[in-house]
Amino acid sequence: MNVLGIESSCDETAAAVVIDGRRVLSNVIASQVEVHAAFGGVVPEVASRQHLLWIAPVVEQALREAKMDWANLDAVAVTKGPGLAGSLLVGINASKAIAFARGLPLIGVNHIEGHIYGNWLIGKEPVFPLLCLIVSGGHSNLILMSNHGEYRLLGRTRDDAAGEAFDKVARILGLGYPGGPAIQKAAQGGEPDTVRLPRAWLRQSYDFSFSGLKTAVLRLVEKLQQEGKELAPCPAPGEGKGVAQTISLCNLAASFEDAVVDVLVEKTRRAAEEFDVKMVLLAGGVASNASLRRRMAETVGVTVQFPPPILCTDNAAMIASCGYFHLQQGERNSLDMDVYPNLKLV
Ligand code: KG4
Ligand code: ZN
Repeated sequence: MNVLGIESSCDETAAAVVIDGRRVLSNVIASQVEVHAAFGGVVPEVASRQHLLWIAPVVEQALREAKMDWANLDAVAVTKGPGLAGSLLVGINASKAIAFARGLPLIGVNHIEGHIYGNWLIGKEPVFPLLCLIVSGGHSNLILMSNHGEYRLLGRTRDDAAGEAFDKVARILGLGYPGGPAIQKAAQGGEPDTVRLPRAWLRQSYDFSFSGLKTAVLRLVEKLQQEGKELAPCPAPGEGKGVAQTISLCNLAASFEDAVVDVLVEKTRRAAEEFDVKMVLLAGGVASNASLRRRMAETVGVTVQFPPPILCTDNAAMIASCGYFHLQQGERNSLDMDVYPNLKLV
């Protein structure tokens, strides 16, 4: 079954063709990062206008790269939420037009569930029951998945999402947007133990909280400023890592990254043991973080799987895959399908 996926929930206009929910024939992503970087974050009004400009060329390119014609498609899957209403509407309306014109089945997909299905696109079929840690700019969820469509929410963020914390701390450190990749890069030149930052364990709960950590970084930087000091820059390439005890940009980035990864890994490890799962899947933009991947694989005691970074951040191949499994259950949406900006997975 050839499914055309369309994704436009935030600041990527994306289209992809995926066979049987598993084989990616094309995965086209038009990123608006540069447009929004000037504002330090996504501007909703600007995002929806950019989606309007890009949606038709991106879908056409996805078909071209898949070497397919409209007639080869069997269904259309589209993100229906959560996300920015104006952005979601562009993808939803494009998918309705295609489904109507070609007489194709239409399926609306939950973006968070879509992220999980990035793991069905890497040639290694996940085995149930499994734990999925979904960490993106908008969400931090620890979910027990016992089959397709069967989810139990174990924990979620009580304030900032993990990616949101990366983005906000990057802004505090003057590292630009999006923050995750910038912090990862800076952290590679630093030592994580130089600055002791707080970890919110929230007792035995599987929930997360990252706003205290973000505030701790902010207070440190403010204190330095009040003392008339500046954050020491990262060492130049070849100079070795940051000097211990120095609050340098790289040491602070490494300490922050370490604090986030500590909490994500330890809560996942504990849940993997309690629920006796067969594997752990990582999903969402933060799942492309190299330190998180490495430490999770070293720690949890079961197989850890994650997609390559291009399938961790927003893309339409994951939407096509997730849509395929819903279509297999006989699910369909009609042409009056709406957008759901606050949609939950569970
Ligand atoms: O999944 P995604 O593309 O969009 C949402 O659905 O939110 O995730 C974007 C988030 C951003 O917050 C970005 O800073 C973060 O993922 N991110 C990373 C890395 N790459 C992207 N965070 C940490 N390390 C990375 N390497
Ligand atoms: Zn996403």
